[in-house]
Order: sequence, then structure tokens, then C-alpha cells
Amino acid sequence: MALLPILTAPDPRLKTVSQLVTQVTDETRQLMDDMLETMYAAPGIGLAAIQVGVPQRIIVMDLAGQDEEPAPLYLVNPEKTQASPETVLHEEGCLSVPEFYEDVERPITATITYLDYQGQKQSLNTEGLLARCIQHEMDHLEGVLFIDHLSRLKRSIILKKLIKSRKLQSTS
Ligand code: NI
Repeated sequence: MALLPILTAPDPRLKTVSQLVTQVTDETRQLMDDMLETMYAAPGIGLAAIQVGVPQRIIVMDLAGQDEEPAPLYLVNPEKTQASPETVLHEEGCLSVPEFYEDVERPITATITYLDYQGQKQSLNTEGLLARCIQHEMDHLEGVLFIDHLSRLKRSIILKKLIKSRKLQSTS
């Protein structure tokens, strides 16, 4: 397994619309293993392949608490087949927008179909943190970041700060 570098905004690659995976192969599983390790090390609870520069429709997640057994979730080609009209505002963060947290409005529940680690078709009814995290990660597959749900002003302030902190890092 390997740790992969995580892209941060405003890296233009994060705007890519990711492509469907034609088949879940050993190579796909290798990528998912590396993504999961990268996510745990960050640490984070979800990661989309495009965040490590791979434009494929692949997501890994783990919402287990610190004292719980790891519960990795692998989603290939996820599709939202249903979402509640009721929405809720909740704070989100993102490994590609480090250190910023803002409220984002999303459907409370969603039904997701996807291929699992073995390439088997699965369906999941989600709510709460799981629904929020999956929908956030699925946005990445369309090239959308959580800050794209904010006002233009808020987004541009965050992006300016990210650029500034990256410049500071590269000169120190
Ligand atoms: Ni994210």
C-alpha cells in the first residue's frame, strides 16, 4: 500500500468530471486500498479518487468512531437513485479544502447504488452522517467541492486563504 498526495483547492484537477469504471479489477482494488490508507493517515472519513488525481468514479469512506473497529466502505460508480426533498444544513470539511468548515444544505436521506470492492452491485439507504458524507464524496465525482455550495464571496475568501497558506508552506 502507498500514501498518495492529496490535491487541494484551487487545483484545477478537482474540477474534473470523473469517468465510469468499466470493470472492478485488481488494479481498482489496489487504488482503493491506497486511497483508504491515505484517508486514514490524513485523517479523514471520506476520499474520492479525483482527490488523489485519478479521474475515476471511486469513493472510499469509513465512519467508524475512534474506539470502533474500522468499517471501510468502497463505492465504485455510485448513483443516487432517490433523495429526500427535505434538506438539512450541517457543517462539512474536506481534505482538499484543509482547515475550513462550513454549513452545507443537503437531502436528509438518499438511496445509493454502487459496485462494491468485489464489483458486486449493492444498494444502500443512507441517512445522517452517512448520507451527508456519500453525497459530499459524490459531488467530487462531478468536480464539485463543498465550497461550491457556498456564496461566491465566502468561496473566494476561502480560496484566497488556501492559496496564501500554500505559498507560506512552499517558502518555509
Ligand atoms: Ni471532500
